[in-house]
Amino acid sequence: MGTENRAGANTTFFTVKWEEAGVVLLDQRKLPQEETYLTCKTYGEVAEAIRAMVVRGAPAIGVTAAMGVALGIKNSTAGELKELAAELDVISKTLLETRPTAVNLPWALKRMKETFERSRAAATGTEAEKIQAVRRDLTEEAERMLVEDIAICEAIGRNGAGLIEESGNILTHCNAGALATGGYGTALGVVRSAVAQGKSVHVFADETRPFLQGARLTAWELQKDGIPVTLITDNMAGHFMHQGQVQCVIVGADRIASNGDVANKIGTYSLAVLARENGLPFYVAAPLSTIDRDMPSGEQISIEERSPGEVTELRGISIAPAGVPARHPAFDVTPHRYVTAIITERGVAREPFTEALNQFFSSEK
Ligand code: MRU
Repeated sequence: MGTENRAGANTTFFTVKWEEAGVVLLDQRKLPQEETYLTCKTYGEVAEAIRAMVVRGAPAIGVTAAMGVALGIKNSTAGELKELAAELDVISKTLLETRPTAVNLPWALKRMKETFERSRAAATGTEAEKIQAVRRDLTEEAERMLVEDIAICEAIGRNGAGLIEESGNILTHCNAGALATGGYGTALGVVRSAVAQGKSVHVFADETRPFLQGARLTAWELQKDGIPVTLITDNMAGHFMHQGQVQCVIVGADRIASNGDVANKIGTYSLAVLARENGLPFYVAAPLSTIDRDMPSGEQISIEERSPGEVTELRGISIAPAGVPARHPAFDVTPHRYVTAIITERGVAREPFTEALNQFFSSEK
């Protein structure tokens, strides 16, 4: 199965890949200085890579977790399917506990569990042959999820490109690009698609304190693709909007409640309010797997609280007085009233979001 990354014309990197040796990840902690790949040989290593942000971004976390499950089952020495099923639960639990906010993680684990059950029910032959068949099916499913994720991002890109003016500046936050997905990206997928259609766009990339996904990752992948990008610190966004230098804002999402409330990287909410104040469209680009239909509103979304050290230090150098308390919620929730549209692979949803999103699910094959 082809798992090449089709991020853009000049893209030579990949975010995540299945190989015989294990799950190969571009180590995003080292970007932009170093482009190095890490091979996770056990599901525990995959879980640690997600927790440590070797790989990040909701869809990329989902695909990586699915490959983690496939790897754990591949490495299992279980002699019976019953034993393998018990191991699957342990593997899933370990992966689930890595990061709480991106719903693509439980979504991917659920899909792998369903694949396991289907495969187990269909397997024939000796117990060893059945285990072999289940292993193969789980590996194929994880690889399929990567291929699908890229195609979904391309569809999001096509659906969103129509919202972009012939020329202008798009402001984005964090990294919702090829690095955050199987390839191509969600928010940056829309940018890539607009560029492919001949539109003359330029991106303002918010630096995205404290983890600097905008500076380290968005600027890196757009520059690699030859898409014009200017890096700004987060507190400059309002200034450029007020000066009329921004035509729209596009961000990704980690979890979207069924009413359209959006959890995304910390700082997204401030941008949405600023966009409203300045009369600018605020778009969210995300696959349907990011929509949590069990969550009525954003109030119930669990927000990951990361180490305060990521706020008080920059790459090991202290930037605050020793001992000063700091907080680090990694995400915030933007109420749906600030969201102009949600761009999915099925189309563009607008208020009322509950109905619009439901329609996309009911048209799902
Ligand atoms: O903490 P991160 O880097 O995993 O956060 C990523 C984001 O907030 C992205 O905007 C989101 O996952 C969408 S990625 C297509």
